[in-house]
Amino acid sequence: MSALTESPAWMALARHRESMAGVHMRSLFAGESGRFQRFSCEACGLLLDYAKNRVTNETMSLLMALARQQDVSGWREQMFSGGKINITENRAVLHTALRAPVDRPVYVDGHNIAPDIARELKRMLHFADAVRYGSWTGYTSRQIRDIVSIGIGGSDLGAVMVTEALRPYHHPDLRLRFVSNVDGTHLAETLGWLDPETTLFIIASKTFTTQETMTNAHSARAWFLDEGAPEDAISRHFIALSTNEKEVRAFGIALENMFTFWDWVGGRYSLWSSIGLPIALAIGSDRFQQLLAGAHAMDEHFRSAPFEQNMPIIMAMLGVWYVNFWGAGVHAIIPYDQYLHRFPSYMQQADMESNGKSVDRDGHFVDYDTGPVIFGEPGTNGQHAFFQLMHQGTRVIPADFLASAISHNPLVGPLGAHHEILLANFYAQTEALMLGKSAAEVRAELQNSGMSAERIAQLTPHKVFSGDRPSNTVLYKKLDPFTLGALIALYEHKIFVQGVVWNVNSYDQWGVELGKQLAREILPELGVTARVIGREPHGHDSSTVGLIQWFRKNCVEE
Ligand code: F6P
Repeated sequence: MSALTESPAWMALARHRESMAGVHMRSLFAGESGRFQRFSCEACGLLLDYAKNRVTNETMSLLMALARQQDVSGWREQMFSGGKINITENRAVLHTALRAPVDRPVYVDGHNIAPDIARELKRMLHFADAVRYGSWTGYTSRQIRDIVSIGIGGSDLGAVMVTEALRPYHHPDLRLRFVSNVDGTHLAETLGWLDPETTLFIIASKTFTTQETMTNAHSARAWFLDEGAPEDAISRHFIALSTNEKEVRAFGIALENMFTFWDWVGGRYSLWSSIGLPIALAIGSDRFQQLLAGAHAMDEHFRSAPFEQNMPIIMAMLGVWYVNFWGAGVHAIIPYDQYLHRFPSYMQQADMESNGKSVDRDGHFVDYDTGPVIFGEPGTNGQHAFFQLMHQGTRVIPADFLASAISHNPLVGPLGAHHEILLANFYAQTEALMLGKSAAEVRAELQNSGMSAERIAQLTPHKVFSGDRPSNTVLYKKLDPFTLGALIALYEHKIFVQGVVWNVNSYDQWGVELGKQLAREILPELGVTARVIGREPHGHDSSTVGLIQWFRKNCVEE
């Protein structure tokens, strides 16, 4: 047994879990009329209702005791003050400094990083506005109309998600496109529509060595020159967002066209840095600052609110409750907000790359579960896809439901107001998940419809909903930059707290390395597409050899 699973707070929760077996949320609601008031809180424009969880006052105080035992406040202070909590990479974790006021010093190796952050942010926003207002033009003096951001993972998903989420605030004449996949289709389908004279390429890569990004970047550069642009036009059309000056220069991008950030900004936490340039281009500098302000407001809440009213800590500990004490291996994130359609994908990387670990900070294999599988789709679409399993499947899938009170598109059609129909579904789903429908209720309903007794007996078990399925609800007034900043930071801190409780390093990602290494070895064995026969595959298992051989035989069209 590990120190964690043997610890008093953990064992107290395990005992409490036993006492909660067979307690249905229906009875919790029946026994406590003020459950919403007790189990909800507000911060930074967000309302979190967590009343529809398998929790009592005792559960919450035991969960908070576990958070205290694991020293969440100590780790939190270390993170905010620049402690090198990313131990395997010997790095500080300071995405919070990117959105803090400039007059608040933060030291890394004795150096105050706040002025560096402010300087780079100013440069980046100045550039974004120059493109937006037309003072930065292409090599033929025409205004930039298309921006292609090339990056992957943390150098892509945040910018994609935020620019989609904030579409109502976009510059009307700038089109943003993102290319991440090394599958040539992604780049080809994007470039097909573009005019090189009015296109700006942003190469976003912390390391500037990532295979997919560099492949796409070099192909984009070749396309640009093939389309007739002169070599010296590259400086007006290629911008780098990176920490690696040497590689940026080697690619042919001048340093004045590079916006930097630092090793203490993790890829999946980097949208607040220069990696956010596509966002600033889309929404402008003032709104980018509002996004930062929203995240900072959540940082302040996380840093100062008592645990019992601390939104990220509450969400994190509820997650721990389900993962470790109810065996939930999956967590759904379901925005009833079409503008947040990439939020679940973004959260997949943020959460799964952070807490998908099975070795603790001391190098021991854990004997408890860590990060869950994150998935999701916007509502109401998800209802017509995977909600069947959420309502009647054998697994418990805790879920977060997100929605705004005000829509950016208050459409009223012949059948009614779209937003009200959306929200009616939103409220109905969490209520249905919690309440379920008993056999007696099903029978009564069927009897009222005049069905035969035989058919009722046959159908009843299929129409029963066990209920007692947990969900959090997050509501906000309107999805504006400030609110979105707060929402993202909420989840970032949730992930942090869970990492502390599970005693894993949430800020490295060694698990992505092996596949990259093997791909480098396999690549020379696939040379046939360029009509050069690659070297024979060797050193692989028979399945991989068989699959490579099949490709070599079949990869050229007859
Ligand atoms: O997938 C692994 C990873 O290292 C991510 O953590 C990172 O966000 C992504 O690759 C891209 O890396 P880079 O910004 O260096 O191109």
